[in-house]
Amino acid sequence: MHGASGYLIQQFVSPHSNKRKDEFENPLLFPIKLIEEVKRVISEHAKKPFLIGYRFSPEEPETPGITMQETFALIDELVGADLDYLHIATTNAWAKPRLGIVSEKSRTELIAEYIDRRVPLIGVGSIHTPDDAAHLLEIGKTDFVAIGRAIIVDPKWVEKVQNHKEETISQQLKQDQQHEAVIPTPLWNLILEVEGWFPVER
Ligand SMILES: Cc1cc2nc3c(=O)[nH]c(=O)nc-3n(C[C@H](O)[C@H](O)[C@H](O)COP(=O)(O)O)c2cc1C
Repeated sequence: MHGASGYLIQQFVSPHSNKRKDEFENPLLFPIKLIEEVKRVISEHAKKPFLIGYRFSPEEPETPGITMQETFALIDELVGADLDYLHIATTNAWAKPRLGIVSEKSRTELIAEYIDRRVPLIGVGSIHTPDDAAHLLEIGKTDFVAIGRAIIVDPKWVEKVQNHKEETISQQLKQDQQHEAVIPTPLWNLILEVEGWFPVER
């Protein structure tokens, strides 16, 4: 369930956007009701095990907005809802909290410590090398690592690690690599346009 990136579910959770004056003024009611309904549908229709997880953005830049305190409250509800996993939505797994808590630790580590193995946690954000991934599992204390851009840059990332060929992982897209990397044109155009998003040889 996509409870991140400012989309609908997050709009209920966020003190920035939730201006409701009815029962949904309780920021956690909407995600909880949705989870209940999704679980009901799964139990009614799924013919084989069907995982359900929840992705959340741990902080918002606005004031008022979601801070780590709101995130911890959300996590308690999500743990109580008996999900299969939680997934942090962030572009940098090592980013430190902005507001609501003062810490030298990353948000990922703080969240992992708060969850304390009550539910599996997936970390993500700027993981480029196998060492980055190992570091996130160890220091960030997550149970899993998700990798986005690095897999787009080198779709054989996982295979290369499994075959001990880490040194052959491509770290940069070449200008003529769209076809080889199987990147659809609208995304390819964005990748070239948005500087600093993807590592592109210029
Ligand atoms: C092409 C692309 C599309 C993405 N689409 C989504 C999305 O629909 N929902 C979402 O939560 N995150 C989306 N993300 C963010 C990633 O899930 C991830 O959090 C982010 O890219 C940081 O991880 P990375 O450094 O491994 O890429 C997208 C990222 C990329 C590169």
